[in-house]
Amino acid sequence: MAQREHFSGRVAVVCAMAGSAIGLGNIWRFPYMVGEHGGAAFVIIYIAATLLVSLPVFIAEVSLGRMSRCSAVGSMSKLRPGKKFWKGAGFLPFIIPLLIASYYSVIGGWALGFLFKSISGQMVSTAPEAAEGLFAQFQATGIQPITMHLLFLAGCSLILVFGVRSGIEKFSKLSLPVLFFLIVSMAVYSLNLPGSDGGVRYLLRPDFSQVGPSTFAYALGQSFYSLSLGTGAIITYGSYVRREENITSSCIGTAVCDLLFAVLAGFAIMPAVFAAGIEPSAGSGLIFQSIPYIFSSIGSAVPALGVVMSIVFFLTVVVAAMTSQISQMQVLLDVLQEKTGIGRRKGCLILFVVLGGLGCICALRTDILEGCDFLCCNVLLLIFSFLIMVFTGFVLGKERVREEITNSGIIRFPEKLFDVVFFLIKWVAPAAIALIFISNFIL
Ligand code: TRP
Repeated sequence: MAQREHFSGRVAVVCAMAGSAIGLGNIWRFPYMVGEHGGAAFVIIYIAATLLVSLPVFIAEVSLGRMSRCSAVGSMSKLRPGKKFWKGAGFLPFIIPLLIASYYSVIGGWALGFLFKSISGQMVSTAPEAAEGLFAQFQATGIQPITMHLLFLAGCSLILVFGVRSGIEKFSKLSLPVLFFLIVSMAVYSLNLPGSDGGVRYLLRPDFSQVGPSTFAYALGQSFYSLSLGTGAIITYGSYVRREENITSSCIGTAVCDLLFAVLAGFAIMPAVFAAGIEPSAGSGLIFQSIPYIFSSIGSAVPALGVVMSIVFFLTVVVAAMTSQISQMQVLLDVLQEKTGIGRRKGCLILFVVLGGLGCICALRTDILEGCDFLCCNVLLLIFSFLIMVFTGFVLGKERVREEITNSGIIRFPEKLFDVVFFLIKWVAPAAIALIFISNFIL
């Protein structure tokens, strides 16, 4: 068998995982979640949820991947051979990425479509009052969302062909700094708009009256989604991590990047939304329906600035969505190659055809897209991450986990700290996931 590729080092691991994590979840979902659930109060709960629950899940997923050195589908049955249950559970990290990758690419396509609109100047030449209608117009053509989805998917497939090291790693190492630069420019610009202080207050003022039991569920759900947990993506990337890498610090590095990016995106978007007098809780349409208004109004004053800022913004969205999409496709490619032994190129082509076809349904029907999103994020993702935690905590057990995260005792990990981490893995995380799962259906 061919030698499995490896990421070249810690920086590469963090860039690739952060590339998977940073995406539409940070740019549109996070700011709007913050607004709906108590501003800064939500951010505090979000950070706590990330540290206490998501981080242990993250560490468990990377460890599982590195221990098994195989696809997410095979990892659990490889580590616990002969048990039908775990073999069956391995089905989930095939179904989930298949669903997510097909509709995520459609949203990536929307962003790409809007990037073209920005480049052609249409974003700026549309009157501000009509800008909200751009999305509906784009959608109504039918052909545009499909073409853009296929184009976006083709770009991702192409990078995937180059492999883990020269494709994913190179692209992520390049795109991560660019993304940070772009989002910081957007934030600086937004914060200087007249009337932007409403947005800053919205993000920073804690409103504890809005915090209820469901806030915790939303905060944890957002944290999972944002870190790409529970889909097999992180297990798969874990399987490409070298033996001598420090898993814990790579996971912490990734979580910090993701959080930082989410906060920056909040500061880039919300002040602009307020300055333009737009309702901040527009949800999934927020960036596509209200952000064009901002660029169009800038453009009516200074056309060139409107064009440049809109290109910067949609380029950020496209690049961020690409790295996330690629991670999802790598999960599927691994499974495909493992099961059929086909080559990388052919695998990428098959993925392009299958995902392209499935995505067309979502490109035409946003209600189906939203249904898929709900099914994945609120149901399947939670079930799978719950199983991962039970597997790690109860089936693998403390000693094997210690072996893995200390690299067989080479990395010094204080005993007490390890006890805490393992307690979080075995008890706190599964309990929290189960609670969110239940709260989905009763709150
Ligand atoms: N983390 C991604 C984002 O913030 C969304 C996402 C969730 C994802 N699960 C995933 C992306 C799995 C790729 C693979 O946009």
